[in-house]
Amino acid sequence: MWKIVLALLAAVYAVAYAIPGGISDIDSNDESVQMALNFSVAQHNNNNNATYLHKVTQLIKAQYQVVSGMLYHLTVNLASTTCKKDSINEKCDIQTAPELAQTFQCNFTVWHQAWMNNTQLTKHECLETSKSA
Ligand SMILES: *[C@@H]1O[C@H](CO)[C@@H](O)[C@H](O)[C@H]1NC(C)=O
Ligand SMILES: *[C@@H]1O[C@H](CO)[C@@H](O)[C@H](O)[C@H]1NC(C)=O
Ligand SMILES: *[C@@H]1O[C@H](CO)[C@@H](O)[C@H](O)[C@H]1NC(C)=O
Ligand SMILES: *[C@@H]1O[C@H](CO)[C@@H](O)[C@H](O)[C@H]1NC(C)=O
Repeated sequence: MWKIVLALLAAVYAVAYAIPGGISDIDSNDESVQMALNFSVAQHNNNNNATYLHKVTQLIKAQYQVVSGMLYHLTVNLASTTCKKDSINEKCDIQTAPELAQTFQCNFTVWHQAWMNNTQLTKHECLETSKSA
């Protein structure tokens, strides 16, 4: 009888506090989110053929998931800037010239394994949201 009660309590506890692999919202100001965001945007800029750097204009959603380390799921709005990719330490304003201004919405997933010193962008989906393509 007690075994059953304890098993039941353990199950309730597990469901309430530690669903493995569940996705939860995370504060966008959290340092780990900012790191994941910086990493994503750097990878994004390295892996497209645009002339100008893109930067984040809005973090729409930030979530995390425990999966052999931590997954960060980010949905962000990006915009093209006035900085070319080879520019160093320039102040990068949002591009306003109509023929160069572009906006995007991206889904990024960053996989971070702290003990392996391993960080990877495992999902990188972007849609251009500006009208003139
Ligand atoms: C993210 O990048 C911004 C701008 O490059 C920098 O100011 C900030 O300190 C970085 N944040 C983290 C957590 O690395
Ligand atoms: C960038 O351009 C190269 C050569 O034209 C092409 O092979 C590659 O797929 C392009 N990359 C992206 C992310 O569009
Ligand atoms: C983690 O990896 C980065 C880049 O690969 C490297 O610069 C850094 O020294 C490594 N840190 C540790 C603690 O191994
Ligand atoms: C991002 O993910 C959401 C939810 O899965 C999806 O509706 C949206 O189309 C995705 N956006 C892009 C740019 O792939």
